[in-house]
Amino acid sequence: MTANSLSFTLHPLQADQRQQATDWIRRRWGSEIMVTHGQVYRPGELPGFVAVGGDQWLGLLTYHSAGEACEIVTLDTDHPNQGIGTALIAAARRAALQAGCRRLWLITTNDNTAALRFYQRRGFALAALHRDAVSRSRQIKPEIPMIGNDGIPIRDELELEMALSD
Ligand SMILES: CC(C)(COP(=O)(O)OP(=O)(O)OC[C@H]1O[C@@H](n2cnc3c(N)ncnc32)[C@H](O)[C@@H]1OP(=O)(O)O)[C@@H](O)C(=O)NCCC(=O)NCCS
Repeated sequence: MTANSLSFTLHPLQADQRQQATDWIRRRWGSEIMVTHGQVYRPGELPGFVAVGGDQWLGLLTYHSAGEACEIVTLDTDHPNQGIGTALIAAARRAALQAGCRRLWLITTNDNTAALRFYQRRGFALAALHRDAVSRSRQIKPEIPMIGNDGIPIRDELELEMALSD
């Protein structure tokens, strides 16, 4: 960490933080629901980890475990390049392993080249391309913008995964 690094600690989301988590998601994603691969999630109701600095939330990760697979449903920070995203992923990886999962995976969209870079540098590999999946998600969540990062039309879902072992 550099001298200017933000100091933060990670905590599992608590039951009494559900509303705060829902508000956080709504502010960043335009709605309290997330739709990916045809599945509707309410991240504010999922387990997760929050990065806290002072009395401020600096980042939030939510996840959903099903059988041997754990999906990272959301990951956001207001303070990029401070190690918060990396720390949240490490916490999710530990939680997934403890829950007996063998696979940690997530969906990002074709416009999110920064996330693609970020996840691949952290050990995730591309597992699938779901062409035009975002168009189908828009039928459930019309708030999903047509144009995303760098002016790129948002169309496809990219699935990334990491095999888990101790
Ligand atoms: C993608 C995202 C989650 C990454 O989180 P982040 O907190 O910025 O990630 P980190 O700080 O851990 O890592 C980012 C870079 O900062 C660097 N970094 C980490 N701590 C640092 C520090 N103290 N000083 C300088 N650089 C630092 C890391 O080395 C990393 O660079 P690298 O990939 O070249 O190694 C974040 O940018 C974000 O919220 N994006 C918007 C939402 C989004 O797209 N979410 C993913 C959707 S699936």
